[in-house]
Amino acid sequence: MAEFICFPALQSKTRAGLDAYLEDGGYQSLKTALDRLQPAEVAAEVKASGLRGRGGAGFPTGMKWGFLPKQTEKPVYLVCNADEGEPGTFKDRDLLRYAPHQLIEGMLLTCFAIGARIGYIYIRGEFLEEAAAVNRALDEARGAGLLGRDILGRGLDVDLHVHMGAGAYICGEETALLNSLEGRRGLPRTKPPFPAVVGLYGCPTIINNVETLAAVPPIVGHGADWYRALGTEKSPGTKLFSVSGHVERPGVYEVRLGTPFLQLLEEDCGGMKGGRRLKVLIPGGSSVPMLTAAEAATLKLDYESCLEHGTMLGSGAVIVLDETVSVPEVVRNLAHFYAHESCGQCTPCREGTHWMHTILERVLAGRGKSGDLDLLLDICQHVSFRTICALGDAATGPVKSGISKFRNEFEALVHA
Ligand SMILES: Cc1cc2nc3c(=O)[nH]c(=O)nc-3n(C[C@H](O)[C@H](O)[C@H](O)COP(=O)(O)O)c2cc1C
Repeated sequence: MAEFICFPALQSKTRAGLDAYLEDGGYQSLKTALDRLQPAEVAAEVKASGLRGRGGAGFPTGMKWGFLPKQTEKPVYLVCNADEGEPGTFKDRDLLRYAPHQLIEGMLLTCFAIGARIGYIYIRGEFLEEAAAVNRALDEARGAGLLGRDILGRGLDVDLHVHMGAGAYICGEETALLNSLEGRRGLPRTKPPFPAVVGLYGCPTIINNVETLAAVPPIVGHGADWYRALGTEKSPGTKLFSVSGHVERPGVYEVRLGTPFLQLLEEDCGGMKGGRRLKVLIPGGSSVPMLTAAEAATLKLDYESCLEHGTMLGSGAVIVLDETVSVPEVVRNLAHFYAHESCGQCTPCREGTHWMHTILERVLAGRGKSGDLDLLLDICQHVSFRTICALGDAATGPVKSGISKFRNEFEALVHA
């Protein structure tokens, strides 16, 4: 069963204020760190915990922090990615709403560890209530001496600011986000240089997802060994999963990494809606390859098992679809999303996503041509890994996996 070990506020969903957070032991990790630890020791604890970025790519957090230049005259910035645009993902939203102080404490610990004095929280444009909750929490923290100059009288100076996006999926990509934060068009930057070296305003910058940063206080409070023991050897800790689709109880669940998918489905989500049969599982957000029911049956919710099954854990957005869905329709809907959200900067992505959607529309309308399925797969080849950012590659995931695993459904439409 989901246990809400690292993110207890998501269980009660009522205790977002500072008093409640303090009652539950909030800001103790920060006090401990400021009293007893050096910044490098906090970073070392996070590295030792094996925490991996929860925004999608799963990059080891401690290693990312380690890419900052050891010595720099420039300010170092921390940016929290709260854009949460991946279809099916809605866990950061709950953290912003119900655990804003845990995020703030995580950002303060991270700023302490990496030597940043300013942090930005880039919040998806549609998240008005969530932004209000975070701003309220920032005001409370400031009033309590937990933010600003000389935090808790221990000499730490950090301020955090909210910046609202304008609802573009591409601005969740970390370098497009930085451009947007600087007031430019949200177009991804070519890498290298990576943001840890040349980031916001040309300065060293660490960008982490909301859940990644909110996991830092329990790690610093309980220690790396405690955190590691919650998951598997290679996928330590817990992870939030946003479960949507044809299940009895959709929602956000905190799960120990390595838990079988069927356990989450049966024990937490109450099984398939109406007792119907599972047909498709998209385990990590709309960008990752879909799995058949037979593949899902042996899937464990961790990074390695997802890779072994030819998919990815991504942002932990578990989309469960039953036997009533048409896979070509699902793929067409996702293709529409990616064509709409492509920023247009790279030709393979701009043209490829447009043509994938156009061809799928034609197939669904009964005007498909005999070579259309192979043409779609060919377009995927020309988009994957040929673009500045991963949006193009993401767009090919549902098309490739949908056609390869459910080809008969597509062929039935083409030859109808
Ligand atoms: C098109 C695109 C959209 C993305 N959207 C998000 C997002 O909404 N939230 C997020 O945290 N990461 C998103 N990412 C991943 C970020 O680029 C980046 O890897 C992440 O913020 C790093 O944080 P982490 O290491 O803590 O996971 C997106 C990536 C791409 C390519």
